[in-house]
Amino acid sequence: MSGARITGTGSSLPDKILTNRDLEQMVETSDEWITTRTGIKERRIAVEGEYTSTFAAEAGRRALAMAGIGADELDLIILGTVTPDFPFPATACILQKELGAHKATAFDLSAACSGFLYALSIATTYIRSGMAKKALVIGAEVLSRVVDWSDRNTCILFGDGAGAAVVEASEGENGILSTHIFSNGSHWDQLYLPGAGSRNPASNPRTIDERLYYIRMEGNDVFKHAVRAMEEAATAALTANAMSPSDISLFIPHQANRRIIDATAKRLGLPEERVFVNLHHYGNTSAASIPIALDEANRSGAIKAGDIILMDAFGGGFTYGSALVRW
Ligand code: ACO
Repeated sequence: MSGARITGTGSSLPDKILTNRDLEQMVETSDEWITTRTGIKERRIAVEGEYTSTFAAEAGRRALAMAGIGADELDLIILGTVTPDFPFPATACILQKELGAHKATAFDLSAACSGFLYALSIATTYIRSGMAKKALVIGAEVLSRVVDWSDRNTCILFGDGAGAAVVEASEGENGILSTHIFSNGSHWDQLYLPGAGSRNPASNPRTIDERLYYIRMEGNDVFKHAVRAMEEAATAALTANAMSPSDISLFIPHQANRRIIDATAKRLGLPEERVFVNLHHYGNTSAASIPIALDEANRSGAIKAGDIILMDAFGGGFTYGSALVRW
């Protein structure tokens, strides 16, 4: 059985910055409240003419350039997103055309904030089984288009952007050691988007009247589940590889809330200096958050050859998961 290795990373973010001070002008909130409750200071917001595929394509190009391969060599593109360009076709098919990845199989995957790790898990399985050799795995979102900008409970949290990784078949001991993905559908209605699907179609006046096209979230409950589930997913990865937290060089958690990250790291016994955090700049970008963080860590030199990297996610569904990589 072949191994699988991340050979390139890339990310792309909108230029437009929305700060906590800007939000003070939009809803009854304060920079102080947002900073202490979430750790977020600013987020990037797509402008007219920018879509999920815009950022996904750019992140993908950058990852391909780092890997030193052409899009025409890809045999798989998986895009984790809950904000596709359209309900169908898959945004991954739009990317296939934009990138010129003519021989790839391309599909979207809906696992909310765990979307990138779900996609990475599937790509790794395809590569290990020999069904694919070169895959592009992307997490991309334009959440600003499904956020109610008059709801202070949610609008302060989210941002837009994309991150990508090229995964290739490899030999040797460096690479993706294991991936672990989990679901718990019992709480699907604690974090969801009620409108524009088959239950509440966009064409139904109720969808408009009741503003069903915006994210709904029970923040407090989501918070508690997130910490427990992220600990479970991280522990699954460590146990499967007979490792302990002291073996982890860098922990890259989903960037939802500083307090969720701190609580998870504390439960795992990971010191602050081994935890990668960039949510103060970008907020919660859902499926994009881990690959954006991975790319920043990679390009800044925070990751060195041989390092053990633990990625850990939680999101709507609920979905959660982890991936352990020897870089
Ligand atoms: N500004 C000022 N006050 C606010 C704001 C705001 N933006 N939002 C809520 N408040 C108020 C509430 O109305 C409430 O007031 P009350 O006591 O008078 O009723 C008070 O602040 C406390 O509200 P809580 O909801 O209890 O605040 P909490 O400390 O739980 O923080 C938060 C809320 C930040 C949403 C937190 O629960 C959280 O981060 N949950 C996780 C949600 C999340 O990350 N979701 C993303 C998707 S899933 C994932 O990515 C992990």
